[in-house]
Amino acid sequence: MSIRLGTVSRRPLVVANWKMNGNSQSNAELLTQFIKLWQGVHHAEVAICAPYVYLPQISELLSESNVIAGAQDLSHFSVGAYTGEISAVMLADIGCEYVIVGHSERRNYFAESDAVIAEKFMQAQAAGLTPIFCVGESLQKREAGEAHSAIESQLQGVINVVGRDAFKQAVIAYEPIWAVGTGRIATPAQVSDMHAFIRQQLGEVGNSLRILYGGSVTADNAAQTFALDDVDGALVGGASLKADNFFAICQAAELDVKLNIEQNSEQ
Ligand code: PGA
Repeated sequence: MSIRLGTVSRRPLVVANWKMNGNSQSNAELLTQFIKLWQGVHHAEVAICAPYVYLPQISELLSESNVIAGAQDLSHFSVGAYTGEISAVMLADIGCEYVIVGHSERRNYFAESDAVIAEKFMQAQAAGLTPIFCVGESLQKREAGEAHSAIESQLQGVINVVGRDAFKQAVIAYEPIWAVGTGRIATPAQVSDMHAFIRQQLGEVGNSLRILYGGSVTADNAAQTFALDDVDGALVGGASLKADNFFAICQAAELDVKLNIEQNSEQ
């Protein structure tokens, strides 16, 4: 992370993506433990994206803390006869501030297209939620030397509909598909390269845009990832399901900011 005092400062963000895990009891245990560990004022921001049915529970559990509630998905429709769907307005109504949009598992298992994802992005912002927009290339694309073009096309799919300026109120998560849930994290060089590329694609807006890395982030590799200039935090799946693991990752983000502030003040 790079905190440039006096110019643009991007507050680090660490987001837990619980996916389809948890139950009332384990959620309560995990969050009670995490909140105890993550007490006080921090430079880094932390959000928990839980399954829909547990969002009221986690909003309640987080209400006395500085940890934010978020959802993992939303409907691309706003209201009406769409059986089984959950709207952006409903999520805002129960206290969510963030929502993940276009996760690779949504794209791959539920055939979400760029067009649907762009609609979801718009619905989220219209309801006052901040979309965490995910992009990531497959292993096949990376091995074919097409990683940049894959990301460019996912970004363009949304930019064409919402415009670059909409990214002033959004977060991007770069999650190479081959690194999600595989234990295989992208190398620092791969992460740096893609984050800089994404920032550049967004032009002026890119300077203040927070770009998270996601894909097998753990307590062991978080610090090295956060140390990279263009990385502003992480989207964490598996390692967010244990309070102490997730805390260690949040702590690594916090330490990285402190280090940056110290270095800046010495200059
Ligand atoms: P992982 O998942 O940390 O388990 O790789 C990340 C994600 O899917 O957001």
